[in-house]
Amino acid sequence: MVLRAVYPGTFDPVTNGHIDLIQRSANLFDEVVIGLLKNTEKTPLFTLEERVDMLEEVVRGLNNVTVTTFGGLLVDFAREIGASVIVRGIRAVSDYEFELQMALMNRRLSSAVETVFMMPAEAYSYISSRLVKEISLLGGSVHGLVPEIVEERLRAKRNAVAR
Ligand code: PNS
Repeated sequence: MVLRAVYPGTFDPVTNGHIDLIQRSANLFDEVVIGLLKNTEKTPLFTLEERVDMLEEVVRGLNNVTVTTFGGLLVDFAREIGASVIVRGIRAVSDYEFELQMALMNRRLSSAVETVFMMPAEAYSYISSRLVKEISLLGGSVHGLVPEIVEERLRAKRNAVAR
């Protein structure tokens, strides 16, 4: 039996914290499907295509990881792709409340899928896509917080905004 996990999120943009979690999940599960939510309530900085593109680039070396998009309920997507596990990252206690709520709601919606919380390495515990975007758009350095391809794309966005 193949143990397939889905790692869902907005990934606007993918950070080194996400990558750390992807690597840990890839070691733990037979297959990991990164699911990018298509219609998020948040207004993303990067288009869906840009986010998929960056993720595909950074997971290129991981044979059991794929990137795809989904709409609708996460539990329905998990069923469609045959995933029995939802992976979510918890950086600090502050993440826990919302994550617990989501995990329990997903459990209520489907008993066929189990949420697994994972912690990134301490060095990544303070990184968030939101802060990375803010810092970069305001001219700060995000070197070491995101992969190089993301750093470049953020720079391009900043230049476009500045124009
Ligand atoms: O990276 P994010 O923004 O924290 O990811 C949130 C995400 C995509 C995991 C969550 O919004 C989600 O699962 N959305 C799909 C719709 C859904 O299933 N909603 C009910 C969740 S209990």
